Amino acid sequence: MSFPNNFLWGGATAANQTEGAYTIDGRGLSNLDYMPYGESRFQVGTGNLDPKSLPEDTFFPSRVAIDHYHHYKEDIALMAQMGFKVYRLSLSWSRIYPKGNESKPNQLGLDYYLNVFKECRKYNIEPLVTINHFDIPMYLVDEYGGWKNRQTIDFYLKFTETVFTHYKDYVKYWLTFNEINMVLHFPFVATGLTFKPEDNREQITTDVIHHQLVASSKATQLAKKINPDFQIGCMLAAGSYYAQTPRPEDVWKSIQDSRESYMFSDVQVRGSYPNYYLKQIEQQNLTLPIKDGDIAVLRDHTVDFISFSYYSSRVSSAQPDAANQTESNIFASEINPYLETSEWGWQIDPLGFRITINEIYDRYNKPMFVVENGLGAVDNLTETDEIHDDYRIEYHKEHIKAMSDAITLDGVELIGYTSWACIDSISNGTGEMAKRYGFIYVDRDNFGKGTFRRIPKKSFYWYQEVIKNNGENLNEK
Ligand code: BG6
Repeated sequence: MSFPNNFLWGGATAANQTEGAYTIDGRGLSNLDYMPYGESRFQVGTGNLDPKSLPEDTFFPSRVAIDHYHHYKEDIALMAQMGFKVYRLSLSWSRIYPKGNESKPNQLGLDYYLNVFKECRKYNIEPLVTINHFDIPMYLVDEYGGWKNRQTIDFYLKFTETVFTHYKDYVKYWLTFNEINMVLHFPFVATGLTFKPEDNREQITTDVIHHQLVASSKATQLAKKINPDFQIGCMLAAGSYYAQTPRPEDVWKSIQDSRESYMFSDVQVRGSYPNYYLKQIEQQNLTLPIKDGDIAVLRDHTVDFISFSYYSSRVSSAQPDAANQTESNIFASEINPYLETSEWGWQIDPLGFRITINEIYDRYNKPMFVVENGLGAVDNLTETDEIHDDYRIEYHKEHIKAMSDAITLDGVELIGYTSWACIDSISNGTGEMAKRYGFIYVDRDNFGKGTFRRIPKKSFYWYQEVIKNNGENLNEK
């Protein structure tokens, strides 16, 4: 048997990409409610364009998304039908603290998630909660400068204390921040950060990174106080970097690129900034905004497990060539001629998944949780309302096999696997609905039209079998 008996099979979503209901029951606006669909999305997402300057008829897909807010019972029932053991979801911060700085939470927002967790428990589904999946109340961004401002650590801690206390009997697994390294690549999306032309971007980004890392450690500390059984994880946008050639310069570049991501988990898992990062900061004339007590907090409150997303490996070159690059979850990669790509240019590399899992395990020797992995593709509904997504089945099959090899042949410790996204939702990168990842189809298009009807795809029934057989006999299906 490759997968442990208690292996947590399931799927993942994020509040901003599914819930919608952006002003319902007292919810406040978040940065992601301002992420437009269309050409300006990348500019806004990277913090280079103020979304409030966009034309009035701009469409903001997250505001309605797939209306999971009103469909959660139906959606969780479908997940239960697939046999999910775990459902990874995130909390919308501005649903619980609409502005972010209130002294009391919004009761209706708290009730909503309580109901969601009760619904999960009804089917014996373990909720895996991402406390912060990119969103921040827009009020905190506008009035306080968001994560640039150290005070945001306290706002975040207030939010975490509220949810830890409120949901302690329902939730055991928590992730402090989704893809914490994404601030380097998609700063407005990841943290609400915007830049003015005169800004020292590197210094601002360094401040934000430190504030989030301290917030993550303090949240871990708080979690253990509230319930020592809580399991707290970090979450990294992962994917190993291959050197483009054996030239030492390319190999060195691949090490530098890897370190750019691993710096975050190095702090969260090992408890201190790695020397390579401290030296880099020094060489760039930047300063870490360390205050009294920060070093001890980072050291003393490290995470219990490491979670990560994996879509693709990447290729590093000392002489990157823009004409030879491909999309790869926001941060581009040199093209790897040995790999096929998705319709969105993401390179498909199941062995790279095994390589990444091993790389992380070799580095930290801690339990790991794969919390995102999947294929964004165009799905076509047949006249009889079916979706024959064999390409998605193939993708997951090969990646699950890679995971199985990593467990049986390499001996890594994996807690679970939540596919992204188990139900079609808004694409984070492009804002499209047409980039579908789900085992469940949702009738909604790129422009906000559709009935929200849910339809299980062929992959739904395939994944149901995978879970039933605990990941064995993949080739027989
Ligand atoms: C991860 C994010 O970066 O990749 C998700 O955590 C996102 O929010 C996923 O949806 C897939 O990316 P995209 O751009 O295809 O939605």
